[in-house]
Amino acid sequence: MKIFLDTADLTEIRRANDAGLIDGITTNPSLVAKVAGERDPKEIYREICETVDGPVSLEVVGVDRETMVREGRKLAQIHENAVVKVPLTEDGLKACRDLVGEGIRVNVTLCFSVSQALLAAKAGASYVSPFVGRIDDISGEGMQLIHQIRQVYDNYGYDTEILAASIRHPMHVVESMLIGADCCTIPPKVLWQLSKHPLTDRGLEAFLADWNRLGAEL
Ligand code: E4P
Repeated sequence: MKIFLDTADLTEIRRANDAGLIDGITTNPSLVAKVAGERDPKEIYREICETVDGPVSLEVVGVDRETMVREGRKLAQIHENAVVKVPLTEDGLKACRDLVGEGIRVNVTLCFSVSQALLAAKAGASYVSPFVGRIDDISGEGMQLIHQIRQVYDNYGYDTEILAASIRHPMHVVESMLIGADCCTIPPKVLWQLSKHPLTDRGLEAFLADWNRLGAEL
Protein backbone atom coordinates (compact mmCIF):
# COMPACT_ATOMS: atom_id res chain seq x y z
CA MET A 1 0.00 0.00 0.00
CA LYS A 2 1.30 3.45 -0.87
CA ILE A 3 1.66 5.88 2.00
CA PHE A 4 0.97 9.53 1.32
CA LEU A 5 1.50 12.23 3.93
CA ASP A 6 -1.60 14.37 4.47
CA THR A 7 -0.07 17.78 5.12
CA ALA A 8 1.35 20.94 3.55
CA ASP A 9 3.89 21.35 6.36
CA LEU A 10 7.32 21.18 4.71
CA THR A 11 9.13 20.36 7.95
CA GLU A 12 6.96 17.30 8.42
CA ILE A 13 7.23 16.41 4.74
CA ARG A 14 11.04 16.53 4.85
CA ARG A 15 11.12 14.50 8.06
CA ALA A 16 9.09 11.65 6.53
CA ASN A 17 10.67 11.94 3.10
CA ASP A 18 14.21 11.78 4.51
CA ALA A 19 13.25 8.51 6.19
CA GLY A 20 12.15 7.16 2.81
CA LEU A 21 8.72 6.36 4.17
CA ILE A 22 6.35 8.19 1.86
CA ASP A 23 5.19 7.72 -1.71
CA GLY A 24 3.48 11.09 -2.16
CA ILE A 25 1.59 13.95 -0.55
CA THR A 26 -2.00 15.11 -0.30
CA THR A 27 -2.92 18.67 0.56
CA ASN A 28 -6.21 20.49 0.81
CA PRO A 29 -7.08 24.19 1.23
CA SER A 30 -7.42 23.86 5.02
CA LEU A 31 -4.01 22.20 5.36
CA VAL A 32 -2.40 24.93 3.25
CA ALA A 33 -4.14 27.68 5.23
CA LYS A 34 -2.59 26.26 8.42
CA VAL A 35 0.98 26.75 7.20
CA ALA A 36 0.93 29.48 4.53
CA GLY A 37 1.12 32.67 6.61
CA GLU A 38 2.17 35.39 4.15
CA ARG A 39 3.45 32.92 1.55
CA ASP A 40 1.81 32.35 -1.82
CA PRO A 41 0.31 28.83 -1.65
CA LYS A 42 1.59 28.15 -5.18
CA GLU A 43 5.18 28.59 -3.93
CA ILE A 44 4.49 26.07 -1.16
CA TYR A 45 3.02 23.67 -3.71
CA ARG A 46 6.11 23.99 -5.90
CA GLU A 47 8.43 23.37 -2.97
CA ILE A 48 6.48 20.28 -1.91
CA CYS A 49 6.58 18.91 -5.47
CA GLU A 50 10.32 19.51 -5.68
CA THR A 51 10.87 17.78 -2.33
CA VAL A 52 8.92 14.58 -2.86
CA ASP A 53 9.42 12.21 -5.76
CA GLY A 54 5.81 11.10 -6.13
CA PRO A 55 2.27 12.36 -6.71
CA VAL A 56 1.34 15.56 -4.87
CA SER A 57 -2.39 16.34 -4.77
CA LEU A 58 -3.18 20.06 -5.12
CA GLU A 59 -6.81 21.10 -4.81
CA VAL A 60 -8.85 23.50 -6.92
CA VAL A 61 -11.01 26.04 -5.09
CA GLY A 62 -13.46 26.93 -7.86
CA VAL A 63 -16.88 25.32 -7.72
CA ASP A 64 -17.96 25.41 -11.37
CA ARG A 65 -16.57 23.23 -14.15
CA GLU A 66 -14.83 25.99 -16.10
CA THR A 67 -13.10 27.50 -13.07
CA MET A 68 -11.99 24.08 -11.85
CA VAL A 69 -10.56 23.22 -15.26
CA ARG A 70 -8.75 26.56 -15.46
CA GLU A 71 -7.32 26.17 -11.95
CA GLY A 72 -6.52 22.52 -12.58
CA ARG A 73 -4.44 23.38 -15.63
CA LYS A 74 -2.49 25.97 -13.60
CA LEU A 75 -1.91 23.51 -10.75
CA ALA A 76 -0.76 20.82 -13.17
CA GLN A 77 1.76 23.25 -14.65
CA ILE A 78 3.42 23.79 -11.28
CA HIS A 79 5.29 20.49 -11.51
CA GLU A 80 5.13 17.11 -13.17
CA ASN A 81 4.34 15.53 -9.78
CA ALA A 82 1.14 17.56 -9.42
CA VAL A 83 -2.17 15.69 -9.29
CA VAL A 84 -5.23 17.93 -9.46
CA LYS A 85 -7.78 17.42 -6.71
CA VAL A 86 -11.42 18.20 -7.48
CA PRO A 87 -14.46 17.75 -5.24
CA LEU A 88 -16.96 14.98 -5.89
CA THR A 89 -19.73 17.18 -7.28
CA GLU A 90 -21.39 17.17 -10.69
CA ASP A 91 -19.11 20.00 -11.83
CA GLY A 92 -16.12 18.29 -10.23
CA LEU A 93 -16.79 15.08 -12.17
CA LYS A 94 -17.12 17.01 -15.43
CA ALA A 95 -13.92 18.94 -14.69
CA CYS A 96 -12.24 15.60 -13.91
CA ARG A 97 -13.21 14.22 -17.31
CA ASP A 98 -11.98 17.43 -19.03
CA LEU A 99 -8.63 17.42 -17.22
CA VAL A 100 -8.10 13.69 -17.78
CA GLY A 101 -8.73 14.34 -21.49
CA GLU A 102 -5.77 16.75 -21.40
CA GLY A 103 -3.53 14.12 -19.82
CA ILE A 104 -3.74 15.57 -16.30
CA ARG A 105 -4.02 13.16 -13.36
CA VAL A 106 -6.99 13.81 -11.07
CA ASN A 107 -7.79 12.89 -7.45
CA VAL A 108 -11.55 13.16 -6.81
CA THR A 109 -11.91 14.14 -3.18
CA LEU A 110 -14.65 14.43 -0.54
CA CYS A 111 -16.05 10.99 -1.42
CA PHE A 112 -18.58 9.68 1.10
CA SER A 113 -20.47 6.94 -0.77
CA VAL A 114 -19.83 3.99 -3.05
CA SER A 115 -22.08 5.52 -5.72
CA GLN A 116 -19.89 8.63 -5.73
CA ALA A 117 -16.80 6.43 -6.05
CA LEU A 118 -18.34 4.68 -9.05
CA LEU A 119 -18.77 8.04 -10.82
CA ALA A 120 -15.20 9.10 -9.99
CA ALA A 121 -13.96 5.94 -11.73
CA LYS A 122 -16.26 6.54 -14.70
CA ALA A 123 -14.87 10.10 -14.95
CA GLY A 124 -11.37 8.66 -15.34
CA ALA A 125 -9.93 9.71 -11.97
CA SER A 126 -6.49 8.38 -11.08
CA TYR A 127 -7.48 8.43 -7.39
CA VAL A 128 -10.67 8.59 -5.37
CA SER A 129 -10.44 9.84 -1.78
CA PRO A 130 -13.05 8.36 0.60
CA PHE A 131 -13.00 10.28 3.90
CA VAL A 132 -13.07 7.54 6.54
CA GLY A 133 -12.66 9.65 9.69
CA ARG A 134 -15.36 12.16 8.79
CA ILE A 135 -17.85 9.29 8.35
CA ASP A 136 -16.84 7.88 11.75
CA ASP A 137 -17.29 11.38 13.20
CA ILE A 138 -21.01 11.24 12.43
CA SER A 139 -21.40 7.69 13.81
CA GLY A 140 -21.03 5.99 10.43
CA GLU A 141 -18.69 3.13 9.45
CA GLY A 142 -15.91 4.76 7.47
CA MET A 143 -14.02 1.54 6.79
CA GLN A 144 -17.17 -0.07 5.41
CA LEU A 145 -17.01 2.45 2.57
CA ILE A 146 -13.46 1.38 1.71
CA HIS A 147 -14.65 -2.27 1.65
CA GLN A 148 -17.53 -1.45 -0.68
CA ILE A 149 -15.47 0.62 -3.10
CA ARG A 150 -12.80 -2.13 -3.22
CA GLN A 151 -15.48 -4.67 -4.08
CA VAL A 152 -17.09 -2.53 -6.77
CA TYR A 153 -13.79 -1.55 -8.40
CA ASP A 154 -12.66 -5.20 -8.39
CA ASN A 155 -16.00 -6.45 -9.74
CA TYR A 156 -15.73 -4.21 -12.78
CA GLY A 157 -11.98 -3.78 -13.18
CA TYR A 158 -11.81 -0.02 -12.58
CA ASP A 159 -8.20 1.05 -12.19
CA THR A 160 -8.89 4.24 -10.19
CA GLU A 161 -6.79 3.91 -7.04
CA ILE A 162 -8.57 3.96 -3.68
CA LEU A 163 -6.83 6.56 -1.51
CA ALA A 164 -8.14 6.13 2.04
CA ALA A 165 -8.30 9.64 3.51
CA SER A 166 -9.32 11.44 6.69
CA ILE A 167 -7.25 8.96 8.66
CA ARG A 168 -7.44 9.54 12.40
CA HIS A 169 -5.47 6.70 14.03
CA PRO A 170 -3.24 3.68 13.28
CA MET A 171 -6.15 1.21 13.10
CA HIS A 172 -7.54 3.11 10.12
CA VAL A 173 -4.22 2.44 8.38
CA VAL A 174 -4.15 -1.23 9.37
CA GLU A 175 -7.73 -1.78 8.21
CA SER A 176 -7.04 0.03 4.93
CA MET A 177 -4.18 -2.41 4.28
CA LEU A 178 -6.28 -5.45 5.18
CA ILE A 179 -9.07 -4.35 2.85
CA GLY A 180 -6.63 -3.64 0.04
CA ALA A 181 -6.86 0.13 -0.37
CA ASP A 182 -4.23 1.18 -2.91
CA CYS A 183 -3.05 4.15 -0.86
CA CYS A 184 -3.63 5.72 2.51
CA THR A 185 -2.99 9.39 3.23
CA ILE A 186 -1.85 9.81 6.79
CA PRO A 187 -1.37 12.88 9.01
CA PRO A 188 2.24 13.14 10.28
CA LYS A 189 1.24 12.37 13.89
CA VAL A 190 -0.40 9.09 12.85
CA LEU A 191 2.55 8.15 10.62
CA TRP A 192 4.91 8.25 13.59
CA GLN A 193 2.38 6.51 15.84
CA LEU A 194 2.64 3.56 13.45
CA SER A 195 6.25 3.03 14.54
CA LYS A 196 5.46 2.89 18.26
CA HIS A 197 5.14 -0.23 20.38
CA PRO A 198 5.67 -0.42 24.17
CA LEU A 199 7.38 -3.83 23.84
CA THR A 200 9.90 -2.30 21.44
CA ASP A 201 10.72 0.41 24.00
CA ARG A 202 10.90 -2.08 26.88
CA GLY A 203 12.98 -4.54 24.87
CA LEU A 204 15.44 -1.87 23.78
CA GLU A 205 15.82 -0.60 27.34
CA ALA A 206 16.66 -4.13 28.56
CA PHE A 207 19.13 -4.80 25.71
CA LEU A 208 20.96 -1.54 26.41
CA ALA A 209 21.07 -2.12 30.17
CA ASP A 210 22.62 -5.58 29.62
CA TRP A 211 25.10 -4.23 27.10
CA ASN A 212 26.11 -1.34 29.34
CA ARG A 213 27.06 -3.80 32.10
CA LEU A 214 29.75 -5.10 29.73
CA GLY A 215 31.37 -1.68 29.57
CA ALA A 216 32.32 -2.49 25.98
CA GLU A 217 32.21 -0.39 22.81
CA LEU A 218 31.22 -1.34 19.27
C1 E4P B 1 -7.56 14.10 1.96
O1 E4P B 1 -6.92 14.23 0.94
C2 E4P B 1 -7.78 15.16 2.94
O2 E4P B 1 -6.72 16.07 2.87
C3 E4P B 1 -7.81 14.69 4.36
O3 E4P B 1 -7.54 13.33 4.49
C4 E4P B 1 -8.94 15.23 5.16
O4 E4P B 1 -8.84 14.75 6.46
P1 E4P B 1 -9.61 15.39 7.70
O5 E4P B 1 -10.97 14.82 7.75
O6 E4P B 1 -8.79 14.98 8.88
O7 E4P B 1 -9.61 16.89 7.48
